[in-house]
Amino acid sequence: MIFYRANYPSGKLNWHIIQAVSLVAISYEILSGKGGVKAWTYHYNITPNMNWDTARQWCRDHFTDMVAIQNQKEIKYLNDVLPSNPNYYWIGIRKINDRWTWVGTNKTLKKEAENWAPGEPNNKGRAQDCVEIYIKRSSHASKWNDERCTRQKGALCFQASCTASSCTAWGECIETIGNYTCDCYPGFKGPRCEYAMECENLHPPHHGTMNCSHLFGPFQFNSSCDFGCNQGFVMAGSGLLQCQASGQWTTDSPTCQAVKCNALNTPKRAILNCTHPLEDNSFNSTCEIGCEKGFSLSGPNRLQCTARGQWIGQMPTCKAVKCEALSIPSHGSMDCAHPIEKFSYNSGCWFGCKEGFLLNGTNSTQCTSQGRWSAQTPACQAVKCEALSIPSHGSMDCKHPIEKFSYNSGCWFGCKEGFLLNGTNSTQCTSQGRWSAQTPACQALKCQSLKTPIRGVMNCSHPFGDYRFNSSCEMGCEEGFIMRGSDILQCNASGLWTEPLPTCQGEKGSCRPRRRGGVLETTNPSSSFAVRRSWGGQETCSHCSSFAAGDRGEVRRPAPHCSTLKCQSLKTPIRGVMNCSHPFGDYRFNSSCEMGCEEGFIMRGSDILQCNASGLWTEPLPTCQVVECPPLPISSAVEMNCSHPIGYFSFLSSCYFSCAEGSKLNGTNRLHCTSDGQWTGTIPSCAAQVMSTGMALLLYTGVGSGAAVLLLLLGGFVFLIVKRLARQSKEISILMNSAVLEECANPAYDGI
Ligand SMILES: *[C@@H]1O[C@H](CO)[C@@H](O)[C@H](O)[C@H]1NC(C)=O
Ligand SMILES: *[C@@H]1O[C@H](CO)[C@@H](O)[C@H](O)[C@H]1NC(C)=O
Ligand SMILES: *[C@@H]1O[C@H](CO)[C@@H](O)[C@H](O)[C@H]1NC(C)=O
Ligand SMILES: *[C@@H]1O[C@H](CO)[C@@H](O)[C@H](O)[C@H]1NC(C)=O
Ligand SMILES: *[C@@H]1O[C@H](CO)[C@@H](O)[C@H](O)[C@H]1NC(C)=O
Ligand SMILES: *[C@@H]1O[C@H](CO)[C@@H](O)[C@H](O)[C@H]1NC(C)=O
Ligand SMILES: *[C@@H]1O[C@H](CO)[C@@H](O)[C@H](O)[C@H]1NC(C)=O
Ligand SMILES: *[C@@H]1O[C@H](CO)[C@@H](O)[C@H](O)[C@H]1NC(C)=O
Ligand SMILES: *[C@@H]1O[C@H](CO)[C@@H](O)[C@H](O)[C@H]1NC(C)=O
Ligand SMILES: *[C@@H]1O[C@H](CO)[C@@H](O)[C@H](O)[C@H]1NC(C)=O
Ligand SMILES: *[C@@H]1O[C@H](CO)[C@@H](O)[C@H](O)[C@H]1NC(C)=O
Ligand SMILES: *[C@@H]1O[C@H](CO)[C@@H](O)[C@H](O)[C@H]1NC(C)=O
Repeated sequence: MIFYRANYPSGKLNWHIIQAVSLVAISYEILSGKGGVKAWTYHYNITPNMNWDTARQWCRDHFTDMVAIQNQKEIKYLNDVLPSNPNYYWIGIRKINDRWTWVGTNKTLKKEAENWAPGEPNNKGRAQDCVEIYIKRSSHASKWNDERCTRQKGALCFQASCTASSCTAWGECIETIGNYTCDCYPGFKGPRCEYAMECENLHPPHHGTMNCSHLFGPFQFNSSCDFGCNQGFVMAGSGLLQCQASGQWTTDSPTCQAVKCNALNTPKRAILNCTHPLEDNSFNSTCEIGCEKGFSLSGPNRLQCTARGQWIGQMPTCKAVKCEALSIPSHGSMDCAHPIEKFSYNSGCWFGCKEGFLLNGTNSTQCTSQGRWSAQTPACQAVKCEALSIPSHGSMDCKHPIEKFSYNSGCWFGCKEGFLLNGTNSTQCTSQGRWSAQTPACQALKCQSLKTPIRGVMNCSHPFGDYRFNSSCEMGCEEGFIMRGSDILQCNASGLWTEPLPTCQGEKGSCRPRRRGGVLETTNPSSSFAVRRSWGGQETCSHCSSFAAGDRGEVRRPAPHCSTLKCQSLKTPIRGVMNCSHPFGDYRFNSSCEMGCEEGFIMRGSDILQCNASGLWTEPLPTCQVVECPPLPISSAVEMNCSHPIGYFSFLSSCYFSCAEGSKLNGTNRLHCTSDGQWTGTIPSCAAQVMSTGMALLLYTGVGSGAAVLLLLLGGFVFLIVKRLARQSKEISILMNSAVLEECANPAYDGI
C-alpha cells in the first residue's frame, strides 16, 4: 500500500536516521504481517510546540521531512496513534504562490487528496498559509485546517525507507508505510527495476536482413531493429521495430515478399512451362516457352522475372512451320488448303492431271510439323499406248507431241509397192491409252487365181499368199502337148499377171476330145480336134491341125480358120511412107506398121502402129505436115511476088524480088523455103541507079519490049499455075497425094 510517493534522485538525498531521544516513534506496520517490511515511521514532538518552519526544520534535522498525507487510511492511522495535543500538529502542506503545495515534493495538492475540515481553508485572520491536522479533536477529527505559520504546534515527521540504492535508475523509490517499493519506469521491471522489459526474440525475415541495436539488452526495452529485404524482395510491413515498454514490439515483424512480375499471357500456339521457386510470376520465376506441334518459336525460349519485377526478354511468338512452296505439275492441277498459313504446317495439296495424263505419285501431300511435305509433288505422265511396230511390207510415220507412243501420238501407215493397206491409214493414242485404230496390215495385191491349163502342169511359188504379188507360176505341158504362150507367169505390182495363161495344145493327130475338170472341151466336126476354151473372158481359138508336128514348144503357123482379129486397113498417109509386117495376115492381130514422111514434111503422131488383141490399132494414123518457113515481111522498098505451092510460106514456097524503075536490086532476086524450114538467103534491097536519059530510054524500050514478050509468056504460065494451085491447095487441105507431090517437085517449075 502506497501512501507517499516521492522522487529521490540518487545521491541527492542523504538520509540520516536519527533516533528519537525523548520522543515517541510510531511505526506504521501495515505490511509487517507480510514479512518484515522496513517501516515508514512517524515521529512527533510536542515538547515544545513549534512554529511551522521550526517544526519542519526539526523534522528534517531528525528524520526525513514533515509528514505528507495523501489518503484517509494514513489520516485515520495518525489520528489513532498520536497523542492528543491541544495545539494539534503541523503537516507538510503550505501555501506557496497561492497554491497549497506539498513541501516535500513541491507538488500541488490535488483536489481529490484534500481533507479540509468543513469551511476550511478559510484563511481566517489572514496569512493562514500553513496546515494543521485536528488529531483527536471532538469534532472534525483528523481534518485539516489552515493556520498561521507562526503558531506553536506539534511537529509531525516521517522517516523514509528509500535509499539511493533502493531502486535502480529505471524506477522511482516509493515510500510505503514502514518500507519502500520501486516503481519502475515504463520499460523496466524487477524489485529494483533492474530489468528492462523483454520483447520476444526477433529473427531476420526470410530473404531479408535484420540489424538490431540493444540499448539495455537483447530484444529488451528500447531495442530497435532495422529490417531489410534481399534483392528481388520487397518488404511488407514496417522496416523498423522497437521494443516498447509493454514488452511488445511496435508492430509485427515485416516479411520479405518476392517482387512480382506481370502475369504472362500465353501467346497463341505456345506452351509455357513456368517454375515459380518463390511465388507465382515473381522474382526468379522462369518460364520455358515452347510451341505446339507444327509451330516454331520466334524469340527467346526462356523468360525470367528479374529482381526489378520485369521479365527478361520479349515474349516470343509461335509461327507455323513452313514447307517449301509447291507449284502446279505440268499437265496437271493442284488444289491446296492452308488452314494456318500458306504452305505451312497442316497445309494440304491435292493433285490431278489433265485428260490424257496419269498421276505418278500420291495424289495428295501434307506439310508436316517438320516442315517437310509428306509426299513429293507427283508428275503427270502422258498416258502410254502400246508401242507400234512397222507393219511388214509397209511404212510407218509417227508424231509424238508429248512422249513416244503416248497420249496424242499419231501414226500414219503406208505400204510398199505391190501391197495394199488393209485397215485405216492412221491411228491415234487416246486418253484411255488405247489406239484409235489397229495397226493395219499390208496385203500383197491379188492376181486372178490361175488354173492349171488342160494337159498342162503348173508349179507356183507364193511368197505373199496364193496368187498374190510376186507369186510366180511355172507352166509346163504334158507329154505330147506343146505350150502356146509364156511358161512363166508372175503376179506384178498392179495385181496382174505378166503374161496370159498359156495353153497346151496337142500335136497334130494326137488331140482327143474329152471332158476334163469341168472345162468344156468341144470338138469341131468340120475340122480335126478343135479346143475352145474360155480364159480370162477372152476367146482363144486353136486347132489341132493348125500346128505342125514338131518339137515341143515350137509354135507353127496358126490354123487358117482360127483367124486373128482384124484391124482397119491402113492407107499410107499423104506425103508419107508406110512399112508393115503382118504375122497373122494383113492388118490383123500383131500386124505392125512403121510410118515415115517425105522430105519437107514432119510427122504428127506415133511412127509405129500395132494391131492389138482387141483388133484396134495401138495408135491413131499419123499425118505428114509440111515444114513452114518464117513469113517474109512485105516492104514498099522492094517488090515481092511469092508463090506457095503447098502452104503459106512453107516448104517449096518461093518469092521473087524486083525494084522500081531507076533503082537496082542489091542481092538475090529469088528466095525459096527449104525442107529445113529455112529461106535460101536474105531479103534483097533496092539501090538508086544513075544513067543518061538516052541510055535510060533505050534501056527502057529494050527492056520494055523484052518485058512484054516475057509478060505474055508468063501470063500463060501463071494462069496454069494458079489453076493448079487452086486445085492443089484444095487437096492439101484434105489429103496430100503423090501426084501433087510429083507436080510440086517438077523441076521445070523450079527452073522458071
Ligand atoms: C522493505 O522492502 C524491501 C524491498 O521490498 C525488502 O527487501 C525488505 O525486506 C523490507 N523490509 C522490511 C523490514 O520489511
Ligand atoms: C517549488 O515549486 C515552485 C513553483 O512551483 C518553485 O518556485 C520552487 O522553487 C520550488 N522549490 C523547490 C525547493 O524545488
Ligand atoms: C546496423 O546499424 C548500425 C547503426 O545504424 C550500423 O552502423 C551498422 O553498420 C548496421 N549493421 C549492418 C550489418 O547493417
Ligand atoms: C528510449 O529510447 C528513446 C528513443 O530512443 C529515448 O528517448 C528514451 O530516453 C530512451 N529511454 C531510456 C530509458 O533510455
Ligand atoms: C517443365 O520444366 C521442368 C523443368 O525444366 C521439367 O521437368 C518438366 O518436365 C517440364 N514440364 C513440361 C510439361 O514440359
Ligand atoms: C535466384 O536465382 C539465382 C540464379 O538462379 C540463384 O542464384 C538465387 O539463389 C535465386 N534466388 C532466390 C532467392 O531463390
Ligand atoms: C514414276 O516416276 C518415277 C520417278 O520418276 C519412275 O521411276 C517410275 O517409273 C514412274 N512410274 C510410272 C508408272 O511411270
Ligand atoms: C487419292 O488416292 C487415294 C488412294 O491412293 C484414293 O482413295 C482417293 O480417292 C484419291 N483421291 C482423289 C481425290 O483422287
Ligand atoms: C483385211 O483383213 C481382215 C482381217 O485380217 C480380213 O478379214 C479382210 O478380208 C481383209 N480385207 C481385205 C480387203 O483384204
Ligand atoms: C488416209 O485415208 C483417208 C480416207 O480413209 C484419206 O482421205 C487420206 O488421204 C489418207 N491419207 C493418206 C496419207 O493416205
Ligand atoms: C516346183 O519348183 C520348185 C522350185 O523351182 C522345185 O523345187 C519343185 O520341185 C517344183 N515342183 C514340181 C512338182 O515340179
Ligand atoms: C518381188 O520379186 C522381185 C523379182 O523376183 C524381187 O526383186 C522383189 O524384191 C520382190 N519383192 C518383194 C517385196 O519381195
